[in-house]
Amino acid sequence: MSPSGDTSPAGDASPTSDVTGDGDAARSASRALDRAFGPGAVASTAAAPGRVTLVGEHVDYVGGHVACIAVDLALTVAVRPSADRWWRVAGLGQRVERREPVMAGDIGDRLLAVAQALHRSGVPVPPLEMSVAGDLPASSGLASSAAVILAAAVAMLRLACGRVTAEELVTVALTAERDIAGIPCGDLDQQVIVHARPGEVLALDCASGARRGVPWPWPTVALVVAASGEKHDVGGEEYRRRREAAEQACAALGVSTCPEIGDRWRELEPELLPRGRHIATETLRADAAVRALEAGDVAALGRLMDESHESLRRDCEVSTDRLDAMVAAARQIPGCHGARLVGAGFGGSVVALVDQGAAKGCAAALAAVSGRNEATWLVGSAPGLEATAADVVGREGDRS
Ligand code: GLA
Repeated sequence: MSPSGDTSPAGDASPTSDVTGDGDAARSASRALDRAFGPGAVASTAAAPGRVTLVGEHVDYVGGHVACIAVDLALTVAVRPSADRWWRVAGLGQRVERREPVMAGDIGDRLLAVAQALHRSGVPVPPLEMSVAGDLPASSGLASSAAVILAAAVAMLRLACGRVTAEELVTVALTAERDIAGIPCGDLDQQVIVHARPGEVLALDCASGARRGVPWPWPTVALVVAASGEKHDVGGEEYRRRREAAEQACAALGVSTCPEIGDRWRELEPELLPRGRHIATETLRADAAVRALEAGDVAALGRLMDESHESLRRDCEVSTDRLDAMVAAARQIPGCHGARLVGAGFGGSVVALVDQGAAKGCAAALAAVSGRNEATWLVGSAPGLEATAADVVGREGDRS
């Protein structure tokens, strides 16, 4: 991963040592543990990448289709047994501790939820001290929530000498986030963080779980990501409301997944129609994005990203004035093919599809709106945990 202006095109990045949990990020997470809680046992570490959706936002929780990549921005979690059996977590400049791994509405929740989820799946985890480090920004629409949970799960599995299949790892992460931490997310983040392959876009069917990798066709076309500085929280009330409205739209039409809607969103009552139109058209756009990648049609993918943003703004109502202004600024740059908000919205980040030569200018245009020069990245695609954590994540039948 490199900062914008200085690096490799999306789809061309190779795994970094950070992503395997063996590099600088692992050392820095271990040092953070010592700083927060004093010296202790040698830590187990693991890193998990973030995610950028190309097209297919706010459809995963109603069985929609998504085109997305894992990116080379990552979070690393270090864990070690706690000598006095208190659970402790350090991250985001805060420290919390408690006797039991229960939810308390603080930065410890997601990590402690993983310990509970692993326990439920038959992998007992002793009381732990844990810390988080890395360059994937929190609350920025890049799946830091799923990444920290999955990194913690792999670090705990390493410590406990456990082994799971990739599917079981996704289930553990969803149990932790949805059932225990109470965040009503879909499964796109977990699927891509586990299954992504570098140089490929993952085409996901969130109803059947089917997925396939589509090669990134353009050596000189890149993805620029810029954080808006407006923090979003996937655990927030607005995300829950979007999900409920999408489910109501499906129920009103008598379908269980959004790809079944087609153009029947027109039959919805006015209060549900915009949400229904978003999920119906966004899943079709994700299919079209995969076709654009297969045809090598960069202009078509850019147009679909623009349309996705417009649908998220107008129909799903998850954009903000700043995100709209960033998207508009990116599109002004010659060589920018399309731009959209990425992730759940309500703040977070923007992703732009650009010719590599235009990446610097596009990043500068985005930063001029956000006021955050340090928060733009030229992202490359990263491998998922199936590849980087093969010591604990095996195939069906490998479970020990
Ligand atoms: C968050 C959720 C995902 C998905 C996206 C929006 O990242 O965790 O499940 O719903 O928002 O596409």
